Amino acid sequence: MRNALLAAGLLVVAAASPAFAQGDAAKGEKLFARCKACHTIEAGGPNRVGPNLHGVVGRTAGTHEGFKYSKPMQEAGAGGLVWDAESLSSYLEDPRKFLPGNRMAFPGLKKEEDRMDVIAYLQANS
Ligand code: HEC
Repeated sequence: MRNALLAAGLLVVAAASPAFAQGDAAKGEKLFARCKACHTIEAGGPNRVGPNLHGVVGRTAGTHEGFKYSKPMQEAGAGGLVWDAESLSSYLEDPRKFLPGNRMAFPGLKKEEDRMDVIAYLQANS
């Protein structure tokens, strides 16, 4: 009985913790087609309309070499914004709301599952 209670408690904790590493990178790769107009993902890939995203998980916002970021993005990085599952999810849900004035013209991924899948794909390439 005690063990069952304990297990139930652990399940609750797992469900409440930020959803990460639960995304499906293979699905994320397909979703990344929507990002490809502006972003490359391979190591050393070129910047396009947006910066190359290889290694973006764990990177300070606005710091990829050779890309001219908007002022709000540079300031967010200078203020300590690092891309992790949580910040990426908020940004990708609604880029303009998360960081007003940033230059990514993308309406956002409204489904949490889609965001988790894309983030898993980004992480697999970091
Ligand atoms: C229409 C072009 C466009 C599309 C589509 C687009 N982005 Fe962007 N993205 C940008 C631009 C431009 C920036 C730089 C924004 C700035 O400097 O304000 C950016 C910035 C980013 C950053 C921050 C990078 C850094 O180095 O700080 C991430 C992460 C990102 N995009 C992920 C994505 C993902 C994931 C998708 C697809 C779901 C996507 N973007 C779709 C243009 C785009």
